[in-house]
Amino acid sequence: MFDLSGRVAVVTGGARGIGKATSTRLLEFGATVVIADSRLEAAQQTAGELGAGASARQVDVADSSSVRALVEAVTAETGRLDIWVNNAGIVEDALALDMADDVWQRTIDVDLTGTFFGAREAGRYMVQHGGGAIVNISSIAAYRATRPEHHVAYDVAKIGVAHMAKVLASEWAQSGVRINAVAPGYTNTDILKDVGSSNPEIMQAWLAQIPQGRLLEPDEIAKVIVFLVSDAASSITGQVIHADAGFTAW
Ligand SMILES: NC(=O)c1ccc[n+]([C@@H]2O[C@H](COP(=O)([O-])OP(=O)(O)OC[C@H]3O[C@@H](n4cnc5c(N)ncnc54)[C@H](O)[C@@H]3O)[C@@H](O)[C@H]2O)c1
Repeated sequence: MFDLSGRVAVVTGGARGIGKATSTRLLEFGATVVIADSRLEAAQQTAGELGAGASARQVDVADSSSVRALVEAVTAETGRLDIWVNNAGIVEDALALDMADDVWQRTIDVDLTGTFFGAREAGRYMVQHGGGAIVNISSIAAYRATRPEHHVAYDVAKIGVAHMAKVLASEWAQSGVRINAVAPGYTNTDILKDVGSSNPEIMQAWLAQIPQGRLLEPDEIAKVIVFLVSDAASSITGQVIHADAGFTAW
C-alpha cells in the first residue's frame, strides 16, 4: 500500500529540514528521489548522505524557467515523474507596518508563486502522462495568526498554497493527478531560527499554545507526506492535513 518502488520523486528544498526527512522516507519506501534546492552543495551533501536512489539538482522555485528545466532534466533522465513535493520555503519576521517591499515580494515569490510553478510544471507532465501525486506545504500560520512572531507575507502565501491544492485538485481530478496540502505546526528545523526559536521567551510562548506541549520532528511531517503520495491515499485529493500537535484543533 505504501510501496513507492519504481516511482520518481522531486522534493524542493530537500537539502535540510522537512524536505530532507521527506526525501529519507520516500527513499525508504522505494522511490528514486531528486533533492532540488537553491543551495546545490547542501543538496549534494544530503544526496550523498542518503545514498543510492538519491540525487541532487539546483533549482530556484521562484524562477519558472528554473523549475521547467528541473522537470525536463528529471523526466529526460528517468522517463517519468510520479511525486512532487512543493516544500521549499522561506520566512522573514516583520510587523506589517515595518515590512519592506522586498521582504513581502521575496516571500510571495518563493512560498506562493514558487509552489504554483512547481505544481504547474509537475502537473503538466503528470496530466500528460497519466497521473501523479503532488503535496504543497502550508503551515499553521495559514489558519491562525501566530504569536508572538508576525509575518503576514508568509501567512497569506501559506493559505494560498492550501487553497491552490483544492483548486488544482478539482482541475486535475479526471487526469489521475492528486494534489493535497500538509499544514505543519512548529517543527524543529533551521527555519524556526528565522522566527525566534533561539529566544527562550518566544519558545515558551509557543509551547504554551501547543496542545501536545512540544515541537514536532521533521520526520512526523515526512510520514504524512509519504502517506499522501502513496496509493493508500488514492481517494484523497484537494485536502489539507493539519499535522500540528493539536495547534489548530481548538
Ligand atoms: N519548521 C516549521 O516549523 C514549519 C512549520 C510550518 C511549515 N513549514 C514549511 O515547511 C517547509 C520546509 O521548511 P523547513 O522547516 O524544513 O525549513 P528549512 O529552512 O530547514 O528548509 C528549507 C529549504 O528550502 C530551500 N529553499 C529556500 N528557498 C528556495 C528556493 N527559492 N528554491 C529552492 N529551494 C529553496 C532552502 O535552501 C532549504 O534547504 C517550508 O515551506 C516551511 O514554510 C515549516
